[in-house]
Amino acid sequence: MRTLRLLIAVTICWFAAPTFAADYPAPEKLAAQAALPDPLTMLDGTKVTTVEAWQQQRAPELRRLFQHYMYGMLPAAPTNVTFDVTREESNYFGGKATLRLVTVSLGVDGAPKLHLLEVTPNRKTSPAPVFVGLNFAGNHTLLNDPKIPLSTVWIPKRYAGTVNDKATEASRGILVDAWSLEQTIDRGYGVVTCYCGDVDPDFPDFSDGVHPHFKSSDDPNAKWGTIAAWAWGLMRLVDYVETRDVYDHKKIIAFGHSRLGKTALVAAAFDPRIDMAIPNQAGCGGTAPSRGTVGESVERINTSFPHWFCDNFKQFNQATDRLPFDQHCLVALCAPRPVLLANAVEDQWANPDGQFEMLVAASPVYKLFGDSGTIASDKPPVGKLLTHKLGYHIRAGKHSTTPDDWRMYCDFADSQFGKP
Ligand code: GCU
Repeated sequence: MRTLRLLIAVTICWFAAPTFAADYPAPEKLAAQAALPDPLTMLDGTKVTTVEAWQQQRAPELRRLFQHYMYGMLPAAPTNVTFDVTREESNYFGGKATLRLVTVSLGVDGAPKLHLLEVTPNRKTSPAPVFVGLNFAGNHTLLNDPKIPLSTVWIPKRYAGTVNDKATEASRGILVDAWSLEQTIDRGYGVVTCYCGDVDPDFPDFSDGVHPHFKSSDDPNAKWGTIAAWAWGLMRLVDYVETRDVYDHKKIIAFGHSRLGKTALVAAAFDPRIDMAIPNQAGCGGTAPSRGTVGESVERINTSFPHWFCDNFKQFNQATDRLPFDQHCLVALCAPRPVLLANAVEDQWANPDGQFEMLVAASPVYKLFGDSGTIASDKPPVGKLLTHKLGYHIRAGKHSTTPDDWRMYCDFADSQFGKP
């Protein structure tokens, strides 16, 4: 079963991937459309009216288009991944959890290792649902535990305790609240996470991280950027979860904040083993419309973060109306699985209203799957969680993840999967 699920995921990534640039019109040849493209109309104008046509034709087409014009082509899943448990402590959080540190080898000489931090609830009436997500500054920042090794790879300067681009003891525990691991354990959920820099350090250079070791497109303009690499890395966490019987493999939740929220949504859109996506305040290039006029623009993101997307995407800086999709199509690729877009009032950079429009525009695809009540047409008030399959939440405050946010993610997951 596990092998079958991995095979399906590999097949989706690989065969949905573009092969020749000639298969795709140049951006300036694409029809300009100011309105959002219809997720249920193929590029050649054919209407999609059945789940079968969605699954076999339109969804693969959209995955190809997203890779070619925006994220770059994701390589196939590695075939020889191995997991080495370096520490296991079954009496964590006062006996409520088991902590594991696991090193992932990607099966290719010289490829970076991924270092996983895992906490699993010890209450084992049934297998636990589990969050998988990348973190911003290393596993040692998520717990105040001197036995968690400091990350040894490049860390952004903006994190406390970074000295000469490396973690120091002063950075231990700085993101405890941003992950609230103990509280999530108390709710009955497991968490598996890894530093995003293990997959690809977040700066414009593809000589490190996974990029040199796995094959993307031959087309230089469609090579995978950092968001695609992170999403591909997140899928390796799913590989690991699938080896663990302590988890319910039908309740795997991809989570991420901001740039890593963009990543979580891409991973869910491309990997059917993921059962729910919770991108938090992900915004432009993830959950907000590229055609949007609020907050970050495509031109701005491509200028500030030239490595996040493939080079083709830069050709849309002044021509977002030529994109043959918008981000509602990325949400729609998750159908019929639940997606929660979480926002904050003071984070207009991530365009919370535009994100709600993406949910509304994705809903015809969910309806095709028979979900009549997937989404309300009015944005819920501040602080009220919309628990449709296409879920939404906006709270007061700024761009961040807080213990209350984690409570709300668990509430949403409870509403869709049942309380663990
Ligand atoms: C910047 C960037 C956003 C991104 C955010 C983050 O603000 O413009 O696109 O989501 O950083 O990752 O924190």
